Amino acid sequence: MARQVPLGVLVSGSGTNLQSIIDNCRSHRIDAEIRVVVSDNRDAYALKRAESAGIPTAIHLRKDYTSRRDFESAFINSLTSHGVELVCLAGFMRIISPDFLKVFSNRIINIHPALLPSFPGLHAQEQAFHYGVKVSGCTVHFVDAGTDTGPIILQATVPVLEHDTAESLKARILEQEHQIYPRAIQLYAEGRLEIQGRHVVVK
Ligand code: GRF
Repeated sequence: MARQVPLGVLVSGSGTNLQSIIDNCRSHRIDAEIRVVVSDNRDAYALKRAESAGIPTAIHLRKDYTSRRDFESAFINSLTSHGVELVCLAGFMRIISPDFLKVFSNRIINIHPALLPSFPGLHAQEQAFHYGVKVSGCTVHFVDAGTDTGPIILQATVPVLEHDTAESLKARILEQEHQIYPRAIQLYAEGRLEIQGRHVVVK
């Protein structure tokens, strides 16, 4: 059996991407195992998904820490104490500091619901829809110190249809997110991702 890459998934919200990773791990479509799910929001539905799947969870609230450094240390401890190798941000609503990045150098990835570098930041699907683009999509990328600026691993395109609303577009983009995030994790697991400057070469 192939090595199972130990994952840590950071979440703030509903966790449909987490669910897709859980399902893909379970069905052995990806050679990975989620060791811990960590949240900054105790009401995140993603935590319920993790619990139902029997995955350990940890919650760290910003208000319980005096500094951002201590707050992030709590996340780092949860990840390292569970032996996490690859950190997957899945609807995690915080910027990762350079200190955090250093601990998991080139081992933090994120999913963004737009074709980067267009429409970084919050509400990307709405931004794209209201801009009037004809094609949008989603992007899995390595995380760097910027907001949604790291080297791109995979993208999927989604056409904007004549009768689309921001909501319907968002739903179709989400379907693609659930496809490409596990695929990117599997490429990592197979050791096929090589970062060369801004480029991620898939070997
Ligand atoms: C997704 O659209 C993801 O691209 C963005 O946040 C959303 C999270 O959704 N980063 P979910 O919690 O995985 O359902």
